[in-house]
Amino acid sequence: MLESLNKTEQQALSKLQHAADSTALKEWRSRHLGKESALLQALGSLGSLPAEDRPAIGRRANEIRRALEAACQQRADELRGTEFDPAPAVALDVTLPGRPVQRGRLHIATKTLRRIYAIWAEMGFQVYRSPDVETDEYNFELLNIPAHHPARDMWDTFHTDTPGIILRTHTSPGQIHAMREYCPEPIRVILPGMCYRYEQITARSEIQFNQVEGLAVGKNIRFTDLKGTLSDFARRMFGASTGTRFRASHFPFTEPSAEMDIECFLCSGEGCSVCKYTGWLEILGCGMVHPTVLQNGGYDPCEFTGFAFGMGPERIAMLKYEIEDIRYFWGNDLRFLEQF
Ligand code: FA5
Repeated sequence: MLESLNKTEQQALSKLQHAADSTALKEWRSRHLGKESALLQALGSLGSLPAEDRPAIGRRANEIRRALEAACQQRADELRGTEFDPAPAVALDVTLPGRPVQRGRLHIATKTLRRIYAIWAEMGFQVYRSPDVETDEYNFELLNIPAHHPARDMWDTFHTDTPGIILRTHTSPGQIHAMREYCPEPIRVILPGMCYRYEQITARSEIQFNQVEGLAVGKNIRFTDLKGTLSDFARRMFGASTGTRFRASHFPFTEPSAEMDIECFLCSGEGCSVCKYTGWLEILGCGMVHPTVLQNGGYDPCEFTGFAFGMGPERIAMLKYEIEDIRYFWGNDLRFLEQF
């Protein structure tokens, strides 16, 4: 039996040298190390041998198996180097034009945000960043919205496991951060960022969207400054002849409060389906900073006044590019994204 095993080993090793490619090597492996091979058959039939022969034959058969495995691996390594054909049959034509490279592009929300930043930068407003994760105190209380105030219904909130820690529902808490940092200096900042609201997702409302807040604090700032600045923004954003109007509104952190509409640029105020036949499109909320909020920011409301506003860049992009559903923004559908 031992002799026959030794012979099997020698035959296998000599045939291995003739395996000239990976297919031949695969065949060799199946023939000499596969289930049907003489070696594996011998190992399988050890139980039928006399008990005194089993240890020696078993040991030798396993030695041979390891030797064949190692030799097979070595041959595979040798073949790996030779199988690559350094001179392909079809010559490489280096004069052919390269494959076109897909160019990336800015997301439409980013593009709109950058346009908004640029316009406000021209008007002397710098960007101020504040956190996405806020305290209830900054998001509501310091903005004159105490616990259980009915106005909290305007901002359905994502709460975290930590009591009092929430995802900001608007960029207005940034007003307090900026005021506390700059007080008693005058302020002219925009505060862009993602906001989160636990709302029903619809064609106009997402649970995650951008806002750009604006804040100006100083001496003798009046409502006319707010109107003039925002109307100038609208003209720079939508075109020099864009008409604007202000409607009275309510926000707990501004007094008086307003919403600004722009004249519908699609129908020039004539009335169409986009402006719902009113001739006007709402683009932002605004107002004079409430004295309590100024005080919470560290400013004396008898000495300082200010205005603030908050706009939604996705809604502005929807108007500007006639996008009918806000869900396209975060749907990651290239057919949509590639249009801009
Ligand atoms: C606010 O959030 C106020 N903080 C704005 C403000 C700031 C008023 C400073 C006065 C002074 P409002 O909830 O209306 O207000 O949101 C402001 C803008 O954010 C809206 O005009 C809209 O453009 C955008 N927006 C609000 N909710 C959503 C939403 N679910 N999806 C997309 N955009 C939204």
